[in-house]
Amino acid sequence: MDIAYLNGQQLPLAQASVPVLDRGLLFADAVYEVIPVYAGKAFLLDEHLQRLANSLAGIRLANPHTDDQWQGLLNALIDANGGGDLSLYLQVTRGAAPRRDHRLPENPTPNVIAFCQSRKPPDAAVFDQGVATISMQDTRWTHCQFKSTSLLANILASDDAARAGATEAIMLRDGQVMEGASSNIFAVIDGVVQTPRLRPEILPGITRGLLLKLAKANAVECLETDVSLAQLKSAEEIWLTSSIREIFPVTRLDEQPVGTGKPSPIWAQMRRLIHASTA
Ligand code: PDD
Repeated sequence: MDIAYLNGQQLPLAQASVPVLDRGLLFADAVYEVIPVYAGKAFLLDEHLQRLANSLAGIRLANPHTDDQWQGLLNALIDANGGGDLSLYLQVTRGAAPRRDHRLPENPTPNVIAFCQSRKPPDAAVFDQGVATISMQDTRWTHCQFKSTSLLANILASDDAARAGATEAIMLRDGQVMEGASSNIFAVIDGVVQTPRLRPEILPGITRGLLLKLAKANAVECLETDVSLAQLKSAEEIWLTSSIREIFPVTRLDEQPVGTGKPSPIWAQMRRLIHASTA
């Protein structure tokens, strides 16, 4: 787990560093991806690379690599770290300019960073009892469709959740559910699976996309629509999804039980379908 990739080279993670003038450090002028690796294979890599391309275009930074180059360097990094079940992190920053300046540099030399972390299965309690969530006002900017490293608001929201004994903060704008601080949200409302429709304030999660595809293929009715906090509070089930968490059952929202207060059947079915697709 200790081999990193930096600008064309593999090296020990502890030795990988970027200059203090790197714009990722100074301005969070950078985008990233977190890709789950199952048995040495990056899962849904094409989808992650497509989203990376969209994020780079969104911040007006040329993609430093073709998809073939990305695949080659990322797969080599997974191999160098021994394969297995990992999470693969990659980040592209706008690089270091000669001086700190808000204006975009004309011909930036991006820094490309990647490393692997182990992916431990969550505590059994997550699946036996589900997790707690809190709802809160979404204080982030409105370009959340780009996977920017500007995550301070997300981090503070996660900390608010942790201080409240919860696993995730659910972000609201005008009483409508957007997403979690680091996940997308699904709910079963009147027997129908529903998830907030995509808009700039939401990351188009790769796991969200997978779930929609699996639901469709298995005749599980699923709507991309508006979901209000009031609807969420009356939902039979709530789930949160991400590349790291896959699909967690949410059994508490703002200190109240969700549905039966236990992980529920449609969640279990969707979890099985996700596992079958990663195998
Ligand atoms: N985050 N929304 C936000 C704000 C996220 O940060 C994430 C994931 C998701 C889910 O997206 P995906 O299914 O593509 O992982 C939704 C990653 C895991 C992270 O920042 O670590």
